[in-house]
Amino acid sequence: MNSYSFFILPFVPLTSYRIAMSYPYQIKSFEVYQSTYQQSIEDPAGFWAGIAEHFTWRKKWHTALEWNFTEPNVKWFQGGKMNITENCLDRHLAERGEQAAIIWEPNQPNEAARTLTYRELHEQVCQFAQVLRNNGVRKGDRVCIYMGMIPELAIAVLACARIGAIHSVVFGGFSAQSISDRLQDAQAAFIVTCDGAFRGAKDIPLKNIIDDALIGYDGIERVIVCARTNTPVSMLKGRDVWWEEEMNKVAESGTTVNFAEEMDAEDPLFILYTSGSTGKPKGVVHACGGYMVYANYTFVNVFQYQTGQIHFCTADIGWITGHSYILYGPLSAGATTLMFEGIPTWPDAGRFWDIIDKYRVNIFYTAPTAIRSLMGFGKEPLQGKDLSSLQVLGTVGEPINEEAWHWYDENVGKKKCPIVDTWWQTETGGCLISNLAGITPAKPSWATLPLPGVQLLLVDENGNEKTAVGDETIAGNLCIKAPWPSILRTTYGDHERCRQNYFATYPGLYFTGDGALRDKDGFYRITGRVDDVLNVSGHRIGTAEVENAINMHAGVVESAVVGFPHAIKGQGIYAFVIYQGSHDPHAHGSDDLIRNDILQTVTRVIGPIAKPDKIQLVSGLPKTRSGKIMRRILRKIAEGETENLGDTTTLLDPGVVEEIMKGKL
Ligand code: PRX
Repeated sequence: MNSYSFFILPFVPLTSYRIAMSYPYQIKSFEVYQSTYQQSIEDPAGFWAGIAEHFTWRKKWHTALEWNFTEPNVKWFQGGKMNITENCLDRHLAERGEQAAIIWEPNQPNEAARTLTYRELHEQVCQFAQVLRNNGVRKGDRVCIYMGMIPELAIAVLACARIGAIHSVVFGGFSAQSISDRLQDAQAAFIVTCDGAFRGAKDIPLKNIIDDALIGYDGIERVIVCARTNTPVSMLKGRDVWWEEEMNKVAESGTTVNFAEEMDAEDPLFILYTSGSTGKPKGVVHACGGYMVYANYTFVNVFQYQTGQIHFCTADIGWITGHSYILYGPLSAGATTLMFEGIPTWPDAGRFWDIIDKYRVNIFYTAPTAIRSLMGFGKEPLQGKDLSSLQVLGTVGEPINEEAWHWYDENVGKKKCPIVDTWWQTETGGCLISNLAGITPAKPSWATLPLPGVQLLLVDENGNEKTAVGDETIAGNLCIKAPWPSILRTTYGDHERCRQNYFATYPGLYFTGDGALRDKDGFYRITGRVDDVLNVSGHRIGTAEVENAINMHAGVVESAVVGFPHAIKGQGIYAFVIYQGSHDPHAHGSDDLIRNDILQTVTRVIGPIAKPDKIQLVSGLPKTRSGKIMRRILRKIAEGETENLGDTTTLLDPGVVEEIMKGKL
């Protein structure tokens, strides 16, 4: 028993209401996987139409698939009319209305947990949908959601989907400036936020950050504020309203109607911003029908979900993993999904294990960075925690090293739970490469085989397909030949950018930006990004974005940012910075002040997640005669390479490399 148990009411699972939902498309053997895969690539349109039959459509599609990767133009289930929330909520009411849809574990272990049954969630979503409508939100409007991990976040997201508004969830770790940029890009007129968010020992003042974001953006009509931390906030008359008051108004007036907007399968469902190689995040757009089908299909197959199981995905809903595998995938499958407000290491490093023990969690899905960080605390936090309910483990977000994989397998899964290593991206909407838990083979640190409908290939720099000779393992840039239902449709407001980014490097192919290996069995191992994107603790961060932020500091002349291997985060951020004029490399005190100022600037411009781990002040950067920074050299220095820096003869000033190497942190 842990020290907090005194305060916790026993959790009573609502077992009596678990009526089996059947998933006729759940793959139950390796042979069926192989035949399903074959069928899916021979006739993708027919295959996915067959899967889509298992959902609630108001009107059936007339064309299952139309596509080309040149424009690009991808349309799934054209003519189909539906609403994703009818599939996530209404269709479950008759059979599982009293089953827990969301179990919510608060940040503070001694605060009461909350459970929302499908019926309660449905009611709350309809009610908040009415609030949104009363506040002027209409189909197609963009609503920015900036909240902590509380049930109201799930309600806000689903309420947007209910009325056909496009949600754009922004992770609570982004700064005012980042929010402002995203509001501007999406031309959003509505915000749903909280007074604050609890994360571990911290209380993040979300509403204040929103107020700062709105100094530079006047396109907002309404800010709806949900009280969570009771932090004092200023409410602007005519613009800001309280969640609870608005919900009460609707409840009292009795105006909630069980209304769901009829959406076209290709109407946008949400925008989610993600970093690329340029300085500006891209608004990845997903469409209602295809996203619904694929999030559900992959949830049911990868995790082999069985009715009654409790699924715990530790991601934040501010990222794609939370969208697909806390909300839309599990809810569309009638599952019980667990949402956790806090962080794995607070109040101690046993928090995840306490939660698994308390709720008898069956499926646990987390990131390698969390596993590595918890590994660092040793086995003590696991002592006395009953993890025997676990049946499936998963990882996502970055390559998992073998050591972490084995630690996870032995200490968490007790060697009896299959581990699914799921490779995918914000742009892909759902898992594309993964073993299916207990059905297809696992291989430590390999994501293994493509899911049905996913046609992978490896290419060289020039786009030529690489093929293996005999049993050799080959390496290349990972591309995809044909669309799956939840491929991104565009980048918001700039289709050309979408084409350039994903479809122009290798004409006719979707380019993932990742490098990969393929072994003789056709298993894939992702080796990491091959573009200027870093993966820090599973978060995607563009080096150009961090450089832009650093360069905003008045004293900075120029900067170059690269990644370096980091034991816990996977990759760390290394910044080489030319600081103006008179910094004295021997006066360490002043260098520390400069570094601190730079860190604060990055926090203000992007958010704490993009803070460099190392800042080296330099007098020059290695450049070619045409002025291009030779990042290849900086990357090698940051990785600790002292020789073999490659050809430096084309540099404008080769001496600068020597100086940088001497000052390496
Ligand atoms: O580099 C790959 C890495 O994360 C990138 C996608 O990041 P994001 O859009 O933020 O989505 C993360 C959650 C889906 C990929 O291009 N990545 C994701 N999953 C894996 C991975 N790298 C290796 N193994 C994985 N399982």
